[in-house]
Amino acid sequence: MASEAEIKIGQVDDVQELHRAGLETVPDRYIRDGDDRPGGDNVCALAHIPVIDVGELTRDDELNKLRLACEEWGFFQVVNHGIEDELLDEMEKLAREFFMLPLEEKEKYPMAPGGIQGYGHAFVFSEDQKLDWCNMLALGVEPAFIRQPKLWPTTPAKFKETLEKYSVEIRGLCRRLLAHIAETLGLAPGTFGDLFGEAVQAVRMNFYPPCPRPELVLGLSAHSDGSAVTVLQQDMSCAGLQVIKDGAWVPVHPIPHALVINLGDSLEVLTNGRYRSVEHRAVTNSEQDRLSVVTFYAPAYDVELGPLPEFVTDEAPCRYRRFNHGEYSRHYVTRRLEGKKTLEFAKINQITTAAPEELCSCK
Ligand code: OGA
Ligand code: NI
Repeated sequence: MASEAEIKIGQVDDVQELHRAGLETVPDRYIRDGDDRPGGDNVCALAHIPVIDVGELTRDDELNKLRLACEEWGFFQVVNHGIEDELLDEMEKLAREFFMLPLEEKEKYPMAPGGIQGYGHAFVFSEDQKLDWCNMLALGVEPAFIRQPKLWPTTPAKFKETLEKYSVEIRGLCRRLLAHIAETLGLAPGTFGDLFGEAVQAVRMNFYPPCPRPELVLGLSAHSDGSAVTVLQQDMSCAGLQVIKDGAWVPVHPIPHALVINLGDSLEVLTNGRYRSVEHRAVTNSEQDRLSVVTFYAPAYDVELGPLPEFVTDEAPCRYRRFNHGEYSRHYVTRRLEGKKTLEFAKINQITTAAPEELCSCK
């Protein structure tokens, strides 16, 4: 991959500034090719992703609902999740205040070309790449060595302290959810916690200003997450997040103080595809802006991942090779978002000449 100095990303406008300028059309770099446009008949507006009551997961019927949600959707909303409404509201308010600051203020925390932390456009690596109609602030949170304190906004004043508190709570929720997800797979509740070591946690705040031509652009390109689980908090403005289900895009309608959970690539690999990381994207609209605060929770970088032996059988042959998670993370963040393409990194090529035992970790 090109080094940071070699990456040329061309002119990348700040979409909030474009919106502020009262543009009636959108620059060419945002206009998607036909298939990639959000309109069309493959949007299934009436379907809903499942809603799980976390407080009820000690009961078999709710746990079964969670299993079905993981098997059939890879996406669900959680309510009764134990995180106080006030903390969610405060985080949302401060994130919004940050995005409302003048551009010069936000640019004090710049994301380097090809970088992943700070304010700017992540996943842009070339001059001819289509751009997302979105501004981002991305920050590494845990473990401490991934933090870049200079990129943590000092305005609004309570931003840092609130993000710290928020992240502790979200981390607890991820751990609890992973324990329940393990149960749904017939594994000991501590399986993922033990395996992940000191988990990596990062946050990305996405701000989608209104767009004059929403039918031509995407807020965020279709992708799966490189995490184990992702926790997404969204404001109540509109349904901008869409999830793929049976080839159609299903909008995720905001529920007050619920959190959207999705399974990431690590869980797909560990379960040998029993559970899958599901493609999703964000769309924009011409009336309203939209904000999301997204936490990625993933294994420690030094963890070796591969399908757990429980999931490799004669009927379900090993589909992923063993790899170092840090290496996968680097692979993920040095490519543009493009559906589930990054997971090709781990797929065992069916026409390989190597004996499966040589590739699969569990034999
Ligand atoms: C992400 C993501 C969707 C959204 O940040 O990985 O999928 O609605 N965001 O912001
Ligand atoms: Ni995502």
